[in-house]
Amino acid sequence: MIITLTGFMGVGKSTIASRLALYLYCRHKDLDLAIEEGEGATIDEIFSTRGEQEFRKLEEEYLEKLINGCCDKVFVLSLGGGALLSQKNRDLIKRRTFCIYLKASLETITERLVKAKKTRPLVKEKSDSELRLHIAQLFDQRKTGYESAADLTISVDNTNIREILSEIMSSI
Ligand code: S3P
Repeated sequence: MIITLTGFMGVGKSTIASRLALYLYCRHKDLDLAIEEGEGATIDEIFSTRGEQEFRKLEEEYLEKLINGCCDKVFVLSLGGGALLSQKNRDLIKRRTFCIYLKASLETITERLVKAKKTRPLVKEKSDSELRLHIAQLFDQRKTGYESAADLTISVDNTNIREILSEIMSSI
């Protein structure tokens, strides 16, 4: 079984995924990290030298490789917040994985991204006041993608990692 974690930037996909893999005694991979390792460049560098469209192509390519090349009994894969913009990726995730959507309110996302926007090319140049509007627009474009791919939706507002993990463990 491949378990994927999706959701907007800043909801804690990688952190939850790595802890979940510890609980399940299985391997965890982060899609962004796989791209960075494979391309020998950070996501930030890929965005600035090759542009977002090229990055989206890499997301499709690496996602397909990771899923088709997976022979682990159980494997946890965290996705980037924009990976499900692609219909191809949504179909693949739906067909081949058990997808967990970590859902957060705009307030939670904005609060977290104000503190952690530096490493995220899509938001790093925004002032704190522009950020809220930008997040709202992006979230609007993406939420149907998250919802349509999800087998399980977990609200991460006002919850801690332990509560989130126990909810996941009791539902899979
Ligand atoms: C992106 C989210 C990032 C990363 C890239 C683009 C997005 O991952 O893939 O900066 O489009 O939302 P996180 O969701 O892990 O921050």
